[in-house]
Amino acid sequence: MNDKGFTLWFTGLSGSGKSTLAQYLTPILKERGKKVEVLDGDEIRENLSKGLGFSKEDRDTNIRRIGYVANLLSRNGCVAITAAISPYSSVRDEIRAKTAAAFVEVYVEAPLEVVEERDTKGLYKKARAGEIKNFTGISDPYEAPASAEVTVHTGTESIEESAQKVVNYLESQGLLG
Ligand SMILES: Nc1ncnc2c1ncn2[C@@H]1O[C@H](COP(=O)(O)OP(=O)(O)OP(=O)(O)O)[C@@H](O)[C@H]1O
Ligand SMILES: [Mg+2]
Repeated sequence: MNDKGFTLWFTGLSGSGKSTLAQYLTPILKERGKKVEVLDGDEIRENLSKGLGFSKEDRDTNIRRIGYVANLLSRNGCVAITAAISPYSSVRDEIRAKTAAAFVEVYVEAPLEVVEERDTKGLYKKARAGEIKNFTGISDPYEAPASAEVTVHTGTESIEESAQKVVNYLESQGLLG
């Protein structure tokens, strides 16, 4: 066991599996002696970022706030797991540069066809019908990371397999001790 904090930054389309993996990994990391906080996009938008919309400016502000809090937590020995779409690579890179502790970007990849078929929140249907504007992957950009520390393919992997890939990377970096 060690007390190293780090930021585990999930990025990917809506329905790709960010929240699922964050929740799945939390008890695993706690069993390894870590303090863990999940900063989930939906919850953050209900409080820390209440009132923000989905323009590029508002999305960037939302993500910067999440990055700010993740840095505070991770530099004090917590594992900060973020689960927001975070579609713009420049802002993700900016947060990476500002983060004092290790920054582990996890690209939660799944093809648009797969996440649209899942439609876990019914939002893709609404976006296709034009009822939601600026919807990532449909009418708003998603910039995939060029060099994420870990990439998981949730269209073909089980939740356990994707989570194991993350754990393997953390172990390889000595972050779990
Ligand atoms: N390998 C996998 N990893 C994670 N989720 C998976 C995997 N395989 C299938 N799934 C399923 O994909 C769905 C992912 O939904 P989830 O709410 O986690 O997405 P999300 O990325 O948090 O989306 P949003 O940005 O809208 O919050 C769940 O129904 C989950 O069971
Ligand atoms: Mg989610």
